[in-house]
Amino acid sequence: MPQEPIRFANGAAYDRMMGVWTRFVGDIFLDWLALKPGLQWLDVGCGTGAFTQLVVDRCRPAGAQGIDPSESQLEFARQRPAAKTAEFRLGDAMDLPFEDSRFDAAVMALVLFFVPEPEKGVAEMMRVVRPGGTVAAYVWDILGGGFPMDPIVAELRAMGKTPVLPPRTDISTLDALEALWRRCGLEAVEARPIAVERTFADFEDYWRTTLGAGSVKDRIAAMPEAERTRLKEGARARLPAEADGRIIQKAWANAAKGQVPG
Ligand SMILES: C[S@@+](CC[C@H](N)C(=O)[O-])C[C@H]1O[C@@H](n2cnc3c(N)ncnc32)[C@H](O)[C@@H]1O
Repeated sequence: MPQEPIRFANGAAYDRMMGVWTRFVGDIFLDWLALKPGLQWLDVGCGTGAFTQLVVDRCRPAGAQGIDPSESQLEFARQRPAAKTAEFRLGDAMDLPFEDSRFDAAVMALVLFFVPEPEKGVAEMMRVVRPGGTVAAYVWDILGGGFPMDPIVAELRAMGKTPVLPPRTDISTLDALEALWRRCGLEAVEARPIAVERTFADFEDYWRTTLGAGSVKDRIAAMPEAERTRLKEGARARLPAEADGRIIQKAWANAAKGQVPG
């Protein structure tokens, strides 16, 4: 049976969970891109605008557009201070609603593994970026264990269950991401891992925050109580606590960047 698509609906819960993680990775990613102020940016799959806000704060763009297929996430994004500079609108990575060469830079933060045809997603970013402009993305290294939900995913597997993951995890490794950038015809291609860590007050804080968002929460809530308890205790065992109870979780993403030829 085909997997039901992962939907992003609760902006506030998303922002507490993945929004915090994406800002940690996004800081390092934007330093790495090292683009000058005053550019036109496109943030594809902007969701709640957590990464777009970083772009506005750190890169001082002349203008920014964020697109996403989830209207409820966009509503959250439109409440951000970034909305003074950035416009947030409905759109799909596979068919960007912009004319050719409109932007200096197009980025995807934690999105490419949701795009049904990643090549098409990259080709669309290349189409709307001017020659010499930048096309870049980062994705969790899901196959390599870098996903913040990895303790839960690993425990689900140990219980013989199929975890719900983004459909195109195959592009999440460093080699696959870099190969994709080269195959699409980008120039000056570079790729790198980005490792980050996040501190939770204790395991309950981790559990509440991590399961607070999206379809994972609903699926786990629908489990029989005994299974849910086993999952929780298994995840706890995979996340050793500090002496004071804090959980310091490590996660890592892979990133690629390149320039549009011409
Ligand atoms: C993990 S969230 C990342 C959101 C944001 N970029 C961030 O870093 O916080 C993934 C986002 O990709 C969006 N998405 C899924 N499929 C997409 C597609 N085909 N085109 C554009 N965005 C898509 C989802 O709606 C969701 O907002």
